[in-house]
Amino acid sequence: MTLPKIELHLHLEGAAPPAFVRGLATEKKIDISGIFDDRGNYAYTDFWHFLKVYEAATSVLTTPADYARLTRAVLAESAASGVIYSECFLSPDFCGGRDVGAWREYLHAIREAAEEAERQDGITLRGIVTPIRHFGPEKARETALCAAETAGDWLVGFGLAGDEKVGRPKDFAWSFDCAREAGLRLTCHAGEWGGPDSVRDAVRDLRVERIGHGVRAIEDPALVDELAEAGIVLEVCPGSNVALKLYPNFRAHPIEKLMERGVKVTVSTDDPPFFHTTMAREYDALAEAFGWDDGVFRQIADTSIRAAFCMEETRDKIL
Ligand code: ADE
Ligand code: ZN
Repeated sequence: MTLPKIELHLHLEGAAPPAFVRGLATEKKIDISGIFDDRGNYAYTDFWHFLKVYEAATSVLTTPADYARLTRAVLAESAASGVIYSECFLSPDFCGGRDVGAWREYLHAIREAAEEAERQDGITLRGIVTPIRHFGPEKARETALCAAETAGDWLVGFGLAGDEKVGRPKDFAWSFDCAREAGLRLTCHAGEWGGPDSVRDAVRDLRVERIGHGVRAIEDPALVDELAEAGIVLEVCPGSNVALKLYPNFRAHPIEKLMERGVKVTVSTDDPPFFHTTMAREYDALAEAFGWDDGVFRQIADTSIRAAFCMEETRDKIL
């Protein structure tokens, strides 16, 4: 599949290859050996264990320079998969501990690395600031303030990741209002581990225009119609859902059904090394599972670029 790809749902820390993380751990003498299997891959038993392994891996990323190196590595991999535009979740929780001054330094390093990748590999990155739901609403407020301070043409969105079973979307309404007032566009992880009500609450209480995953909306036909009607875009990550055992295989994934029911769907990798995936593999697996041809992937790319949070002129430049 050689069509240019647009990715809207990628966690920067979650895209850190195991060898990259091991290298930093060795340099910094941090013991994280328990998070890898015999072959050196990330090892986890379920989503909640995955979150723990993820946070342990992130613990080796302690400086803006680490994030600059990570950004270059991640974008080189994405570009090799044919990605020309990527929106990446960035968390002040991991980048400077929600201190605005430190956050600015991390952001500066990530942005410089992204600009170098744009010149060399022709891939454009934009950032979405993301609090972590299970860290609680108070930390999300601090994160929203970091986001509001740095919102602009590069930092374009605000989201919410982490354990969807903890708290309710309305607990985070203050943070989303703050981000919206700062001009940020909004998305929220929902309908991955929570059911249809979790998606409904995120749309109603946070007024998001995109949903991260959202696939469990399929369990409620009325909600599917509402999403289609409202033009809410789903950032679907099929390989992530299969690796985390939400669905047994690609064929059982609801992405095609959602699309057939008129919901706007896009395709992303989420945390590619954790799920042994890349954008190229996602496209190949979807083509194999559903028999999709270039026309379907062109439609997905078209939906994705229209749903991107970047400014119009960035969009025009990419196309
Ligand atoms: N953070 C990284 N990956 C995630 C996922 N799949 N769901 C929720 N939070 C995440
Ligand atoms: Zn995600």
